Amino acid sequence: MTARTLSLLVALLLGVSAAYATEPGYPLDAPAPDGRRAGGTLTQELPAPPIAEEENKDLKRERNYPEQPPTIPHSIRGYHIDKNSNKCLSCHSRANSALTQAPMISITHYMDRDGQALAAVSPRRYFCNQCHVPQQDVKPLINNSFKNIDQVLQDEINRKQKP
Ligand code: HEC
Ligand code: HEC
Repeated sequence: MTARTLSLLVALLLGVSAAYATEPGYPLDAPAPDGRRAGGTLTQELPAPPIAEEENKDLKRERNYPEQPPTIPHSIRGYHIDKNSNKCLSCHSRANSALTQAPMISITHYMDRDGQALAAVSPRRYFCNQCHVPQQDVKPLINNSFKNIDQVLQDEINRKQKP
């Protein structure tokens, strides 16, 4: 291939990509992937959906497995946690739970990493929101096919009973 045909080829390729970039309708107007942000195009900035309300029904939710940190069934807006104070413990600590009728934090919250029980809440369980989260009043964006162990066991029984 001579230098001349090569440079012609390069010029042609550059021309093609330039044509694609400027051609209206491609690819900037491609529809946005549906799911998290339905509708619109890739480059359109749609107004953000309003922030959903925190679920605040005060009803404990089922845990998916026994070791799951339970989700918080009440609003925690404005609850402060820092070095000097912990709003959560004002209700959930051992001493305060009788007064507030909030469930007491379990024994694991008093254990250090070697499983030794401490007199006070363990530092590694102090920042409650590392593990416990409130829930918003929204539909899940993506379907979830998780089955808890009770369902798995029941499926197994059903499978064995089939002739
Ligand atoms: C004003 C008292 C109060 C405060 C403050 C409070 N809670 Fe609660 N919490 C409760 C009560 C009462 C319940 C029992 C269910 C209900 O009534 O909402 C509860 C339930 C929970 C549960 C569910 C337990 C289970 O077994 O399902 C979690 C987790 C929880 N709270 C975490 C927190 C965290 C984290 C904070 C701080 C961000 C916090 N709470 C602050 C009173 C409180
Ligand atoms: C490192 C993760 C972690 C942190 C931090 C943490 N928790 Fe938990 N929490 C758990 C797990 C896991 C469970 C469920 C198993 C258990 O009891 O250990 C639980 C259980 C609970 C329960 C239910 C207890 C019961 O007997 O049903 C309450 C209430 C609770 N936590 C409140 C809190 C509060 C309040 C804080 C902050 C002071 C906190 N947790 C910090 C992981 C955590």
